[in-house]
Order: sequence, then C-alpha cells, then structure tokens
Amino acid sequence: MEISSLKLKTSYKEIFGQDPDLLAKSPGRINIIGEHTDYNEGFVLPTAIDNAVFVAIGVREDDKISVYAEEFKEKFEADLNHIAISEIGWANYVLGVVNQIQERNLTLKGFNLYIVGNVPAGAGLSSSAALECSVAFILNELFQLGLSRQEIAKIGQMTEHTYVGVKCGIMDQFASVLSKEGAVLKLDCRDLSFEYVPLELGDYEVVLFNTNVKHSLASSAYNDRRASCEQAVAWVKEIHPEVNSLRDVTVAQLETIVQPKDQDVFVKSRYVVQENERLNKACDALKSGDIAGLGEQMFLAHAALSKEYEVSCEELDFLAEYVKDKPEVVGARMMGGGFGGCTINIIKKGFGDSIAAEIAPIYKAKFGLDLTVIPVKTSGGSQIIT
Ligand code: GLA
Repeated sequence: MEISSLKLKTSYKEIFGQDPDLLAKSPGRINIIGEHTDYNEGFVLPTAIDNAVFVAIGVREDDKISVYAEEFKEKFEADLNHIAISEIGWANYVLGVVNQIQERNLTLKGFNLYIVGNVPAGAGLSSSAALECSVAFILNELFQLGLSRQEIAKIGQMTEHTYVGVKCGIMDQFASVLSKEGAVLKLDCRDLSFEYVPLELGDYEVVLFNTNVKHSLASSAYNDRRASCEQAVAWVKEIHPEVNSLRDVTVAQLETIVQPKDQDVFVKSRYVVQENERLNKACDALKSGDIAGLGEQMFLAHAALSKEYEVSCEELDFLAEYVKDKPEVVGARMMGGGFGGCTINIIKKGFGDSIAAEIAPIYKAKFGLDLTVIPVKTSGGSQIIT
C-alpha cells in the first residue's frame, strides 16, 4: 500500500477536523547479519527499507494527546500530566515515547497524532521501532526538542524496555533513524560508532521470504536469551573483573569458565561471540565484492541461530535449508528476533519470484501457510515529508 502525503493530510483532517502541522515517516529495517549481538555490545549490519510508519501531527490548545491508529481504526486519548502504561497495546508505543521525552525534562504541549504504516507487522521488519521512531522524530521537530538522531533511537529503545516489556538492543531504532539509501550501517553497539558500507551486490539482490508465522513467543524468549548472556558475563567477570559484555570475552574463556557451570549458557554466549566474528567476515566480503563469501557467513549464521541460540522455527529452517540447493541463492538466514518472520536471501537478480513460486506449494502443503515474497529497496532514515 502506497501512502501519499495527500492521503495522510486528508485522513488527519477527517479525524481531527483541521490540517496537520507536520508530516513525517520512519522506516522498517532489514539486517544482513549480526543477530542478537546488539544487546551484547556487538556489531550489526542493518539498513532501512522503503516501508515505513507515517505520522501526521498538529498542536492542541490543551494538555491532551489524541492518537488515531489507522491499522486498528481506534482512537486513544491521554493527559500529558498523567502519562502511564495503557491496556491498549499499540498506545504504549506512543505513550512510552512521550514518557521518555518527559523523563528528559523536555516540555511537550498537547497534540493530535494520526498513524498509518505499510511495514508488515510480525515479519521481523521492526514495525514497532518504525512506530516509536516516527513519533519521537515528529515530536522532536514539532516542539523543537533539540534531540539528536542517536537520542531519538535511544528513546525508541527505552520505550520498548519500559512500556512494551522487551529488553531489546538498539539495532532496529538506530537503523530506522540513521540509515542511508544504498548502504548498510555497520554499527558498533558498544559506543554507537558506525560506518556506512555500500550495499553493492553486483548481479545479486536482497529478497525476503515471509514465513507468515507471527512470533508470539518472541518477547519472553528474547528476554531469556538476554538473561543467559548476562549470566555468562557475570561468571567471566568474577575472574576477569575488566569484562563488561560478551564483546570482551573469548570462546576460550567461555570454555574454561562458563561451560563447567552451565552448558546451555555456554552455547548461547559462544553463539554471540562467534556471530560477531561472522559479521566481520561478511562485512569484509561485502566490501571486497565477494558476494559468495558474504552469503556463506549468512548460511552459517542461520545454522547457529537455529541450533545454538535456538531462536528459529521449523518454517524458517525449511526456507533457509531449501534454497541451499539453488545455484542462484548465495546466502540465506532467518532475520530479526526470530520464531517467525522472514528469511533474508541473497539471490541472483530476477530469480526471487520464480524460486518462491517453486517453494510456495511445498511450503503450503507442509505448514498450511502461504509463502510471500517481500522485495527490498533500501531507504534513508526518519524524515519530514513535504
Ligand atoms: C529484535 C530486537 C533487536 C535485536 C534483534 C535480534 O529485532 O529489537 O534489538 O536484538 O531482535 O538481532
């Protein structure tokens, strides 16, 4: 679904009876490699796509906020002086952002906000980060809050921690706010330093295959994985006090310190250390135009996400496995938090649809679900729409 600025304005006016003051959008993201590394001070390699959450905003005369979500055809109202977690799930993405801004002692006035998006939900494309960032971004512009793009990303992340209940890393929000068209962000989640690496794939392109499995278990499993990583760090720290994250840890240290205490915590933490190594190899391959080398690391990453970190599911495994025999596919893996969503594939240009058409009936027979193709176009981060 295309969303034009005219449609945004018209919808806003229908709901709030006046013209909006400002329009903005913030995109969803893909991630080439580097999963579950962000909350371990590791590296990630994401970029924004041209599916986004669009927002239209107008100032009010009072201290109320009134928010309309097109997806749910539902309006939510709150008082700026009493911001608290709501029972309405989607409203918390807005309320959490407002709360984060207030926590920074910045002043907001009442506003009307209209939200509409075309990032498929539950597909692992970070529709929630796109929502948080679009709200933080437009509030920053409208009320001249002086927040940097990095701070906007952090506000989105903390909204997840405080109002949504997922202790996510910074990757999704950072990509939504700071991406550049045609490049991936190599982000060091330890200090948020980053470089743009051109996503030049020669005869190849990125294609997503959506399992159409919604990741329902994802948030509790996500927090469990994070706890395992923290446990491993705590054990290593007893002997090496200078260690603060898995970024500082070697596999040898995990073998001597963590493995004797807990095999599962060992396997999970080793996954993170090795995923950083895979990412660095993949990124070097991308920089030198070695697309096969990049793809190889993606296949390895999928196997580790599935067998070691255990965040895949049968449907993702099936799709990542099936394409291995296709000469046109050089790499594939599950993408994002896991338990559903998409696989990301590096496929010879023009072959995505025919390969998907071949797999779809087999996939349907096996899982009773449709396999859908999501073509990928990269885009820049959050922006004002004129
Ligand atoms: C989700 C989280 C991110 C990241 C990925 C896994 O998308 O929001 O912070 O941890 O999972 O890489």
